[in-house]
Amino acid sequence: MPKIVIAIDGYSSCGKSTTAKAVAARMGYGYIDTGAMYRAVSLFFVRERVSLFNNKEITAALDEIHITFNHNNRTDRNETYLNGLNVEEEIRKMYISNIVSEVSAIPEVRWSLVAQQQKMGRRRGVVMDGRDIGTKVFPDAEVKVFMTADTYTRARRRQQELLAKGELVNLEDIIKNLEKRDFIDTTRAESPLVRAPDATLLDTSHMTIEEQVDWVIEQSDRRL
Ligand code: C5P
Repeated sequence: MPKIVIAIDGYSSCGKSTTAKAVAARMGYGYIDTGAMYRAVSLFFVRERVSLFNNKEITAALDEIHITFNHNNRTDRNETYLNGLNVEEEIRKMYISNIVSEVSAIPEVRWSLVAQQQKMGRRRGVVMDGRDIGTKVFPDAEVKVFMTADTYTRARRRQQELLAKGELVNLEDIIKNLEKRDFIDTTRAESPLVRAPDATLLDTSHMTIEEQVDWVIEQSDRRL
């Protein structure tokens, strides 16, 4: 059977990664969380004190960054590795969420990660979630979904995710962070978050994860 690319873009905390992961598992496809890659770069920049305003430092740092994913059978989760070290927990913390959109607006960072993502999906058979998959990384993706949900629902979901990991953050701070990230993501010069003209809009405000997964699988079945 031919393999396709499924691009899931949209705002933060709409259920993109949970849906993408489950769709990939059901279809026997690979799953690539591109947000995790921008988060890993942000973590490296923080740790190495890379200035976000110094192009030379940024380019040199990008040459030293190697990001991989590894499936953890115990937790049944795909985990992110930065230069061989598991950074999955660290990159999900609020201090990374607070800088990741600034880091991902840097053109050099995007050029580097987009090239890596295109390489990862070159054999197709992948579900990729992010902000620019259907517009920039795989404009020829067979299935393109653009997810939205109302801000309150997204913030509540994000709060539950953080709580499950032991980080208690109040709702106002999460809403501020989501709104700030949305603003930077949609207004940056280099591949801003925008719905591809051929992407199908999915508002997940009142949908369960199972319904989201079924919906994407149905879209994919039509393309196979
Ligand atoms: O998906 P997640 O919320 O973890 O992504 C973190 C941030 O990474 C986003 O807010 C966005 O700034 C950036 N990002 C991006 N392009 C992607 C994926 C994520 O700019 N393809």
